[in-house]
Amino acid sequence: MTLIELRDLTRSFPGPPEVQALKAVNLSIDEGDYVSIVGPSGSGKSTMLNILGLLDRPTVGEYRIDDVVTGLLDEDERARVRAQRIGFVFQAFHLMPRRTVLDNVLMPMLYSGIPRDEREDRARRTLERVGLGHRLGFLPTTLSGGERQRVAVARAVVSTPSILLADEPTGNLDQATSGEVMSLFDDLRADGLTLVVITHDPAVAARAERRVRITDGRVTEEA
Ligand SMILES: Nc1ncnc2c1ncn2[C@@H]1O[C@H](COP(=O)(O)OP(=O)(O)OP(=O)(O)O)[C@@H](O)[C@H]1O
Ligand SMILES: [Mg+2]
Repeated sequence: MTLIELRDLTRSFPGPPEVQALKAVNLSIDEGDYVSIVGPSGSGKSTMLNILGLLDRPTVGEYRIDDVVTGLLDEDERARVRAQRIGFVFQAFHLMPRRTVLDNVLMPMLYSGIPRDEREDRARRTLERVGLGHRLGFLPTTLSGGERQRVAVARAVVSTPSILLADEPTGNLDQATSGEVMSLFDDLRADGLTLVVITHDPAVAARAERRVRITDGRVTEEA
């Protein structure tokens, strides 16, 4: 089943000078795909992820997720699709520093309508899943980099999204810690989650089944 479809998608920033960060991109991603996105700095990778995550809109072209033509959605509808189907992980973790690990993972479910007990139960189970069941009451600042990123991954998947989007998720981690996060991604993939991971690290890119390269806004798929 096709989950994501980009058709002749262009994103320009008006400038001046105008920058065409993505140029007539065509890409489709199936449910359960594990895709890495590689390419030089400034080539358009984050621009692509922001569009996939409904944080930004294309200038021209179409983006469909689950056959929903996202260009036809208003902001509320986009926010709903984002909350229900999309999880994000960033290089800099973006955890709430004064809230416990458990609170950070509860956050995305706050307005979900899920009863409090159930929310707490899910957050705990998700944290156990990423190997942090013993850190529920800790503050993020007291955790290692790899632990922080695992909290961020737990927060991203606690609402059972259809797709996880990650922008340089191992960029702040050393090799061993990066390996931890990669094997967590492998587990999530094995459970059927669709993953799109931007990375500069060839070892991280090699874990994915598909490798998409962006060069100066143009997308090519590597065999
Ligand atoms: N909000 C913006 N306004 C104007 N230009 C932008 C904006 N965001 C990105 N760009 C431009 O679009 C191009 C692609 O940027 P993007 O952030 O997608 O690159 P990237 O591949 O993620 O690079 P990096 O590996 O350094 O993170 C760059 O030339 C950048 O200057
Ligand atoms: Mg970037």
